[in-house]
Amino acid sequence: MATMRVGFCCVFLMLVAVRRMPSATAGGWPPPNYADALTKCLLFYEGQRSGKLPPTQRLTWRKDSALTDGQEGGVDLVGGYYDAGDNVKFGFPMAFTGTVLAWSIIEFSAELGPELVHAHEALRWLTDYLLKATAQPNRIFVQVGDPYSDHNCWERPDDMDTPRPVYQVNQTHPGSEVAGETAAALAAASIVFKSSDPAYAATLLSRAQAVYNFGHTYQGSYNSLGNAVCPFYCDYNGYQDELVWGAAWLNRATSSTRYQCHIIHGIKQMELEENGSDLEFGWDAKNAGNYLLLFLQQKNDSEYGRLVEEFACAMMPQSHSNYIKYTPGGLIYATPGCNMQDVTGFSFLLLLYARYLTSARRTLTCGTSQYPPSALIDVARSQVNYILGQNPLNMSYMVGYGTKFPQKIHHRGSTLPSMDQHPQHLFCGDGTPYFNSNASNPNLLVGAVVGGPNDGTDNFVDSRYWPNQTEPTTYVNAPLVGLLAYFSKN
Ligand SMILES: *[C@@H]1O[C@H](CO)[C@@H](O)[C@H](O)[C@H]1NC(C)=O
Ligand SMILES: *[C@@H]1O[C@H](CO)[C@@H](O)[C@H](O)[C@H]1NC(C)=O
Ligand SMILES: *[C@@H]1O[C@H](CO)[C@@H](O)[C@H](O)[C@H]1NC(C)=O
Ligand SMILES: *[C@@H]1O[C@H](CO)[C@@H](O)[C@H](O)[C@H]1NC(C)=O
Ligand SMILES: *[C@@H]1O[C@H](CO)[C@@H](O)[C@H](O)[C@H]1NC(C)=O
Ligand SMILES: *[C@@H]1O[C@H](CO)[C@@H](O)[C@H](O)[C@H]1NC(C)=O
Repeated sequence: MATMRVGFCCVFLMLVAVRRMPSATAGGWPPPNYADALTKCLLFYEGQRSGKLPPTQRLTWRKDSALTDGQEGGVDLVGGYYDAGDNVKFGFPMAFTGTVLAWSIIEFSAELGPELVHAHEALRWLTDYLLKATAQPNRIFVQVGDPYSDHNCWERPDDMDTPRPVYQVNQTHPGSEVAGETAAALAAASIVFKSSDPAYAATLLSRAQAVYNFGHTYQGSYNSLGNAVCPFYCDYNGYQDELVWGAAWLNRATSSTRYQCHIIHGIKQMELEENGSDLEFGWDAKNAGNYLLLFLQQKNDSEYGRLVEEFACAMMPQSHSNYIKYTPGGLIYATPGCNMQDVTGFSFLLLLYARYLTSARRTLTCGTSQYPPSALIDVARSQVNYILGQNPLNMSYMVGYGTKFPQKIHHRGSTLPSMDQHPQHLFCGDGTPYFNSNASNPNLLVGAVVGGPNDGTDNFVDSRYWPNQTEPTTYVNAPLVGLLAYFSKN
């Protein structure tokens, strides 16, 4: 495919120097406590909750918020997650978070052990919201909150008073990427809840089908909503990847090949449109995730298999086909924006592929190099270990994990005093002194993984001014749930 060939050429042109990955036990670091990190990784989602908090809420410095969301559109849109350090509910990355959180749970439910119940809770908080957002046929409410006024105010979600407009896609203003992703999340979640709550799973699955049909029948990008969406979660790489992704998850959830034609057509369109690279996997481009998901379902398909091999080879640091870069300390370095998304997303895919290789008793061949599955797992482990503090700064990039972690994360709720300490309303401008302060954040957003080093070095500035280094997001943690579950048992 055309997009793939672009990447393919790079494989041969962009040879990088062979370098050694720091091994899991090198550097004199104590072994990471993956189980502790897993508990915290899931706890983070409680800190991102919007709506009426349940009595079981463990991050108690957070309070109820946005209890009238949806009112402006005459609908109930209370709930869901704030995506990052602000108070907007962005439906597109929220749905992606749901899909990958569900994928983590599907693949590693046994390894999640006692955390499985919290993983289910984290996912259900999200799918309950998606069910509200998709309650009307041929319509999806894709966002709540005006990103401009929100971003101009450093306010706690608990007393947020900025406008809460609702944004929708419908037959005249379609949004195939947000529909495809929402269908994927609902379908993947239906697999998660199939045995524990079959009725809920059935609701999720039938909604997934309706939402997918809407996105497929009325095609177009939600970028037409204009500056509410762009440049925040603008769909830069087109919507075909999400239509394929939604169809692939529906095939898996229905244990059928019902959506096979849609997949084949969507992949062809992706080739034609040349959007995105096959070495991407994040809230925007699903490419690498699509190929792995399709390959794991249709192992007879040599084209998907080849693309997955390409991806895995590109990640192997000693492979001569390597062209994903690493920092000197060993962190994947791919995107200057929020780099950590690639770190956790790529590592998750690599781990899943390694597990397949193990079960198929195969090795990975990259040019003249051969890798046993354990070599792929070592790369994924090195990334997780880096996040947990095995790096040149000895800095854990997960808040509340280890002894040294970011103290001034770019996150409104974490920065401002809790209602418990400061019950008086803090208005828009009242938050600025807290933002500018040199003091550590008063509230620990336990489990939040920040953007981290992002310029190709291992440097990190612990400052609220640099969201690209200190802002956490829901979609960075989602693949990490699966990774940590696996490493806590292996
Ligand atoms: C990081 O930790 C290692 C192992 O404990 C230690 O040898 C090293 O000096 C530390 N580096 C820094 C920059 O603190
Ligand atoms: C369809 O969506 C557009 C864009 O969000 C909105 O302006 C329009 O009012 C919606 N149409 C209906 C009938 O709700
Ligand atoms: C994807 O590619 C098509 C065809 O080249 C182009 O029209 C479209 O604008 C691209 N989409 C995005 C989101 O860049
Ligand atoms: C692979 O198998 C699936 C399901 O058995 C089938 O639908 C598909 O056409 C096959 N693909 C190829 C390339 O043979
Ligand atoms: C990210 O943050 C650094 C500061 O650490 C800044 O110098 C850089 O320009 C930022 N990069 C982007 C892409 O915003
Ligand atoms: C924060 O620290 C910097 C450098 O240490 C200093 O220049 C600045 O004045 C401090 N700001 C506040 C609000 O204390």
